[in-house]
Amino acid sequence: MHEIAIRGARVLLNDGLRAVEVGLDGGEVTEVAEEVAPAMVEHEADGALLLPGLIDDHVHFREPGKEEKEDFATGTAAAAHGGVTTAIEIQNNAPLMISREAVEAKLALVRPKSRVNVGVYGSANRASQGRLSEFADLVFGFKIFLAPSHGDEGVDTDVMLSLLLEEIARIGSLAVIHAEDRAMIDAGIEAHARAGAAGWSKARSAAAEVKAVERAIRLCERTGCRIHLFHLSSAGAVDAVADAKARGLPVTAATCPHYVVFTEDDTARVGGLLKCNPSIKSAADRDRLREGLRDGTLDVIETDHAPHLPEEKRAPFETNPSGLSGVDVFLPVLLHLVKEGVLTLDTLVERACRAPARLYGIERKGEIAAGRDADLVLVDDSRPWTPTEADFESKAKLSPWVGFEFPGRVVKTFVGGKVVWEEREGRTPTAPA
Ligand code: DOR
Ligand code: ZN
Repeated sequence: MHEIAIRGARVLLNDGLRAVEVGLDGGEVTEVAEEVAPAMVEHEADGALLLPGLIDDHVHFREPGKEEKEDFATGTAAAAHGGVTTAIEIQNNAPLMISREAVEAKLALVRPKSRVNVGVYGSANRASQGRLSEFADLVFGFKIFLAPSHGDEGVDTDVMLSLLLEEIARIGSLAVIHAEDRAMIDAGIEAHARAGAAGWSKARSAAAEVKAVERAIRLCERTGCRIHLFHLSSAGAVDAVADAKARGLPVTAATCPHYVVFTEDDTARVGGLLKCNPSIKSAADRDRLREGLRDGTLDVIETDHAPHLPEEKRAPFETNPSGLSGVDVFLPVLLHLVKEGVLTLDTLVERACRAPARLYGIERKGEIAAGRDADLVLVDDSRPWTPTEADFESKAKLSPWVGFEFPGRVVKTFVGGKVVWEEREGRTPTAPA
């Protein structure tokens, strides 16, 4: 007798899609077989797809400090809605995660209200340099901004960057990097200020990203520090990563759905809802990112869920804060990429589940097999879905994904076997995991 069984699903195992049943006990998958034993709680999937829960290694849930934009209750509900069962969060507003006290206080505050597994990054900057080992055991890596972004000033000298990377390497941790060159961005914004949305991809240019990515790779080589480059948006950055990997450097990289679905023409047309850092670039950049996702040069896909207030995202382009709300639709947009031929179901699970599980050392997650955590998502790929604002669990309901036609929708999300989101006229009263 199992505690829980899921029957009638097409289950993505490591050797492909199988019509099998899954038994869950004590928060783990305990049996995967053509027919599993009866259970106390039975879930009938009606032919939906059962995938490992997604691991999103880049979200901003804004708590503590900016709870008016998002908090961990709404952010993790949105994550669960998007098929995400583990979210790693970057605090980029005060208080930054620069001490053990700050991280402990944050985790104590947010864990009880989270529906999915959550982790955080430390902030590596001038203020925390020399003290990273004091809280390395609490974080999934250390975030470094090479340019200012919201509350974080960024690290702009090679001396400081080297010190931080050496320290992270010594601890055996991972540096996660936002790579845009500060001077080039400042100059670009000034030069293209009057062009508004149509000039945003020139203001925060591909060249500014490539320069910073090359700098990060150079210092990775010099210090031996493992680096993970977040949200790449340009062809040149993908080329630089391919070259670094060919040279055997410990570099991994990620991109986000908005960089592989939209182009700068969409930003020009849509305006502030597609304003983000890095900017969305040309069709050629998008195509190279797609190729990188296909061939594994880009290891990970992540949302960079960056919620802002409705009135902020309605503001004129110039004053509109960068960032878009996207974690509610993460798995649906990945299914769109499967439909477009960018991903297969197997590469979807590789980039959004297995690769992040390996990168962050959470290998009990990321695949469906006996002995792994029962973090799972059931998604119906036979019913297309076009979300409205009301469908978003995030506080940030103004999103460029509203009105987008997705080829499927999340039906149920499980964390440790417990249902943390289920389709019920789009909403659920489900409590934290
Ligand atoms: O577009 C962005 N928004 N890029 C970032 O780096 C930060 C983020 C935010 O926090 O809103
Ligand atoms: Zn971000």
